[in-house]
Amino acid sequence: MYEQEKQLVAEAALTYVKDGMIVGLGTGSTTERFIEALGPLVQAGLQIQGVATSLATVRLAERLHIPLIDLEEGMEIDVTIDGIDQIDGRFQTIKGGGGALFREKIVALMSRELLYLTDSSKFVHHLSGPLPVELDPFALPYVRQRLRDKHVSATLRVKDDRPFVTDGGHVILDVELSAISDVRVFAKEVKSWSGVLDTGYFERQPDHVLTVEEGKVKRIA
Ligand code: 5RP
Repeated sequence: MYEQEKQLVAEAALTYVKDGMIVGLGTGSTTERFIEALGPLVQAGLQIQGVATSLATVRLAERLHIPLIDLEEGMEIDVTIDGIDQIDGRFQTIKGGGGALFREKIVALMSRELLYLTDSSKFVHHLSGPLPVELDPFALPYVRQRLRDKHVSATLRVKDDRPFVTDGGHVILDVELSAISDVRVFAKEVKSWSGVLDTGYFERQPDHVLTVEEGKVKRIA
């Protein structure tokens, strides 16, 4: 149902990419559509350099002959284009449904402009989660216990009957937010625990958000 909306925002995002830019390339099915649309423009002569947020995005960009560069100290990415899992009225966002939250966050933090592509399912009144928490597998029992002490449920993310492993070699706990009144405060606390690398709560807010309303792309920021 949302496939067409994803395609529409992905194509509209092309207008944010200009010759000579360094472009952060997100991860997920919406961003995939954007990268697929970007490929032919690059092949036709558009000069950009991409910074990938996951190995899946590296593979896709390479297949489309989009040149990639690594992050470097002092580098400013002109624009990063990515999808999200949830966004509320204050533009607080949760990401990480695709398991790339850490690299996505670093690339977002190094970007001058951040554009989120959303279909209409992503808008919520309150961030309801789950909130992905990426952690070192050794710390799993510790972090689980700390969540249990706070009466918060969490599920270890699994893929093909095995724990899902991120590009950085970590695991992900998907944390229930129903008992959490302030996700920002909760995410900050969880991030302070030993063994936790990061959470899918993105402190960096987007500069632009594209979505679809009544079949048309709408820019809401
Ligand atoms: C990956 C992400 C994705 O951007 C997010 O899950 C949205 O994915 P999709 O575009 O497939 O709905 O954060 O870690």
